[in-house]
Amino acid sequence: MSSFKYSAEHVTAYYSIDVEREWQRLIQNPEQEVKLHVHNHYLYEHLTKGLSVLEVGAGPGRFTQTLHEIGCNILVSDISEIQLDANRQKAKELGFSASISDWQKVDVTDLGQFTDNSFDAVVAYGGPLSYVFDHLDQALSECHRVLKMDGLLIASVMSLWGTLHRYFASFPESDPTPVAANGDLTAETYPGTTHFCHLFRSEELREAMIRNGFDVITLAASNTMSSTHTEILATLRENPEQWQSLIDMEIEASDSTGMVEAGTHMIVIARKRS
Ligand SMILES: C[S@@+](CC[C@H](N)C(=O)[O-])C[C@H]1O[C@@H](n2cnc3c(N)ncnc32)[C@H](O)[C@@H]1O
Repeated sequence: MSSFKYSAEHVTAYYSIDVEREWQRLIQNPEQEVKLHVHNHYLYEHLTKGLSVLEVGAGPGRFTQTLHEIGCNILVSDISEIQLDANRQKAKELGFSASISDWQKVDVTDLGQFTDNSFDAVVAYGGPLSYVFDHLDQALSECHRVLKMDGLLIASVMSLWGTLHRYFASFPESDPTPVAANGDLTAETYPGTTHFCHLFRSEELREAMIRNGFDVITLAASNTMSSTHTEILATLRENPEQWQSLIDMEIEASDSTGMVEAGTHMIVIARKRS
């Protein structure tokens, strides 16, 4: 459980620069591309044409595009106006605006502009729930409130052990102990960082879902093998068959019990309990 105080101002400022980098993030190298595939897999697996989806923290729209391809009716939201503008622009340029009913500035901790039981699914990919720190229950109870009965919350958060595993050497003096203490990555636990977020343990994430009225259907990792062996990915990427085998394995491994905390991110699929 996070002890750090949530600051909407800080996270808005953090995400109000360099939107093109955010748009490129999941295609910038093969490791990130695997993440895109794994995250997309869970959208395709759980969502179908015609569902109404609130996308929270949509950013410039990597996954808005996927939701459009599935045929969902999407309300795009983000705490940053600049990210919303970028999403509008990408939607127009790449032809996915027809599926979007509106773009609204929304903080996941207060979904007050939406009535109860409004959406079939809430998608919060890329960490909005990792940015709310001590307001996690507030954010989850808001997601729960706006979902229809049996509606799905599909989210990804930053994962503690997978991130330490992937970036162990990058921690100051290779000592992630302060971050591991309760999962908060802040200027205090990682001097010099301006990227403040909470890294979850899997049981903590599961318990938060249950506490806020959800049944957890799936917990999955993004990524598993590919975040450990980044050096061989560029070569694999050049061979379509080997690349496809890796993606298939990553997807299979992602929700294997022993792998759930192996990635830098954890994906959770949770159903609003009736
Ligand atoms: C890493 S980006 C992810 C963008 C996109 N969902 C993806 O996965 O590619 C995180 C996004 O969440 C937004 N965000 C952060 N905190 C938020 C909050 N409390 N409420 C709503 N959006 C938030 C940021 O502005 C940013 O656009």
